[in-house]
Amino acid sequence: MSEPSAGEPTKPPLKGLVLSGGAGTRLRPITHTSAKQLVPVANTPVLFYGLRAMVEAGVTDIGIIVGDTRDEVMAAVGDGSQLGARVTFIHQEQPLGLAHAVLTAADFLGDAPFVMYLGDNLLQGGITELVHEFRHGDADASILLQRVADPSSYGIAELEDGRVVRLVEKPKEPKSDLALVGVYLFTHSIIDASRSISPSGRGELEITDAIQHLIDRGRRVDPHVVTGWWKDTGRIGDMLEANRLILDVMPHRIDGDVGEGCVIEGRVAIEKGARLVRSSVRGPAIIGAGALIEDAYVGPYTAVSDGVVVRRAEVEHSIILSGSRIEDLPARVESSLIGRDVVVERTDAQPRALRFMVGDSSIIGLL
Ligand code: DAU
Repeated sequence: MSEPSAGEPTKPPLKGLVLSGGAGTRLRPITHTSAKQLVPVANTPVLFYGLRAMVEAGVTDIGIIVGDTRDEVMAAVGDGSQLGARVTFIHQEQPLGLAHAVLTAADFLGDAPFVMYLGDNLLQGGITELVHEFRHGDADASILLQRVADPSSYGIAELEDGRVVRLVEKPKEPKSDLALVGVYLFTHSIIDASRSISPSGRGELEITDAIQHLIDRGRRVDPHVVTGWWKDTGRIGDMLEANRLILDVMPHRIDGDVGEGCVIEGRVAIEKGARLVRSSVRGPAIIGAGALIEDAYVGPYTAVSDGVVVRRAEVEHSIILSGSRIEDLPARVESSLIGRDVVVERTDAQPRALRFMVGDSSIIGLL
């Protein structure tokens, strides 16, 4: 058999594994009724950014782990052909951990190397280079890291002389500020490692423990410190920040109907069927298909989804999901995440009072 020449891959093509199960406790109430991976950033579900990054890197055979919200995820992704992928949905009965998700996907993965992408993560710059490097290298795993201000919220890696020596999941007293980004590259050795570990204190099979298992047995785990931005969109602040970062690089495009006297400033995307009437939009902002902006102001870093109505109101630095109506407000709505089919309005009804019908875990900030 001839030796592989320089530049020839040393591993077969990678499969993809995207994790879109689990519970979205930190984004409640939005995630009481829908998958956290489908909450849109700049009007595109978070999940789609990971799928696109995989396809761009040539990874098109993709398994998606789904849980309780599987119907919704399956309806949004379809067979994956709209994204250029071939998608297999893999049902995980319960969210018993990231390594449990890997085991659940064992049949799909076979002995192929794979890239695993957490469905609520967003990574600038894609994964093309990482996939290429991993395919051509000898590592058993490659992990992505980024310095964070609050290490106890993440899996944390400790390095010595540039090598990973220890991984700890959400340590109370972190010894490093290098967080594990939710993108991992593995050979199938991670499957055996995941079989060898026990559930953690919180009852999950942790991928950090499975990777530690590889390290302890002398397998090669390469660290990559990521320099571009990365967001875990599990919390509202991160979600709004991700929205800001994506809108900042979105192309300007007016496909909707901008009425006379409207003012458009900066980079704005107005989708087909959207209507602006006597309004101002200051970008970066996106207005979804069929939305109506009337006698209103939409300010920077706002994503207005399909079919939303903003009338006699001002909105800035916010995400408004489809079918909602914001009307006649005396003050600007700011830094808000508003769910689907929500109504926020001022009325003249007597007695003058605040009236709410608000779901569990909602947050309301009054003037
Ligand atoms: O975002 C990076 C962090 O992601 C890492 O630093 C941590 O080491 C890693 O454990 C993970 O922490 P999270 O607490 O953010 O994980 P979460 O429970 O939010 O799950 C991540 C994704 O995987 C999410 O889209 C839900 C999905 N998931 C999760 C579990 C536990 C599944 O599909 N199945 C599961 O069993």
